[in-house]
Amino acid sequence: MSALFQPFKLKDITLRNRIAVPPMCMYSADDGLINDWHHVHLASLARGGAGLVIVEATAVAPEGRITPGCAGIWNDDLAQAFVPVVKAIKAAGAVPGIQIGHAGRKASANRPWEGDDHIAEDDSRGWQTIAPSALAFGANLPKVPRAMTRDDIARVRHDFAAAARRAREAGFEWLELHFAHGYLGQSFFSSHSNQRDDEYGGSFDNRSRFLLETLAAVRAEWPEHLPLTARFGVLEFDGRDEQTLSESIELTRRFRQGGLDMLSVSIGFSTPDANIPWAPAFMGPIAKRVREEADIPVASAWGFGTPALAEQAVSDGQLDLVMVGKAHLADPHWSYYAARELGIERPSWTLPAPYAHWLERY
Ligand SMILES: Cc1cc2nc3c(=O)[nH]c(=O)nc-3n(C[C@H](O)[C@H](O)[C@H](O)COP(=O)(O)O)c2cc1C
Repeated sequence: MSALFQPFKLKDITLRNRIAVPPMCMYSADDGLINDWHHVHLASLARGGAGLVIVEATAVAPEGRITPGCAGIWNDDLAQAFVPVVKAIKAAGAVPGIQIGHAGRKASANRPWEGDDHIAEDDSRGWQTIAPSALAFGANLPKVPRAMTRDDIARVRHDFAAAARRAREAGFEWLELHFAHGYLGQSFFSSHSNQRDDEYGGSFDNRSRFLLETLAAVRAEWPEHLPLTARFGVLEFDGRDEQTLSESIELTRRFRQGGLDMLSVSIGFSTPDANIPWAPAFMGPIAKRVREEADIPVASAWGFGTPALAEQAVSDGQLDLVMVGKAHLADPHWSYYAARELGIERPSWTLPAPYAHWLERY
């Protein structure tokens, strides 16, 4: 019996299996507005058999986009553009999720295939970035952000809450806060990017404050019966990993007390000077530690796109949900082929009935 193909229930939502498509930016929106490409992309991934499809990092404010092509949800028109996408994902039997975020000091960048670096200061397509402190990330992202005032902090917290409300109004059933990858939430937690001397910087409690306050603001808007999750970089691979991980686990406990239902365990990406030990499924043991010590369901990504590894991550108790990213871009029917490879009886039943019937028949 496959563990990967068991249903997964969180709050009132049941996923048909433990396979999720993680958020993946398409850098193809116009002033935040998604279009036919996003529809095709997300609907085909849902059709392919995954239990959950999470829409890309969607900006809560214009200056929170990573690139000018990133999706946004900072007004009702942008949010309503997701309605047909949500319906298409549901029609294909998957649960529609969305990741909302703010890119902080990593915003105002060129698309990955157009440089992946900050837009030049004299280029009108770029904008002033904001962050906890006026410290640049460095390397390909040299732009120095403006240090956020208390008003900025209150405004962005409000932007997250308003985005959560709009996501619900658009029909999403799963919400993920983007607190990872060196973007704004992560950059408040990391001392690589936060050197404030007020109550939002310095001690563990202070560096956690923006994330916990934002969670509370979102929790008040997002229905209690639907899953609220966060993606968070629990360590940086910067040589200080044991301390960062134990702080992250303590913060995850506080997230759980604040109403978070699941953590997507990821990497901090707060410094270009990290030494990440890339290998298939390398985050599995770290995610398991968070799962056990913070007592919360977890997901993770990074190299789980081989069926045997995905199956093992669930059966070994490392993950509750396996995020399969790039392998889904290569093959939206990844779940079907995974079921075949794992020797599941009648694997075509991972697909919607109008496909499954015929694949079983001949
Ligand atoms: C094209 C692309 C866009 C991505 N965009 C996001 C994003 O919007 N939010 C996020 O948290 N991670 C993003 N990621 C990271 C993926 O969610 C995932 O963690 C990563 O691809 C590793 O998983 P994999 O080895 O299965 O591909 C992106 C990755 C890719 C390839």
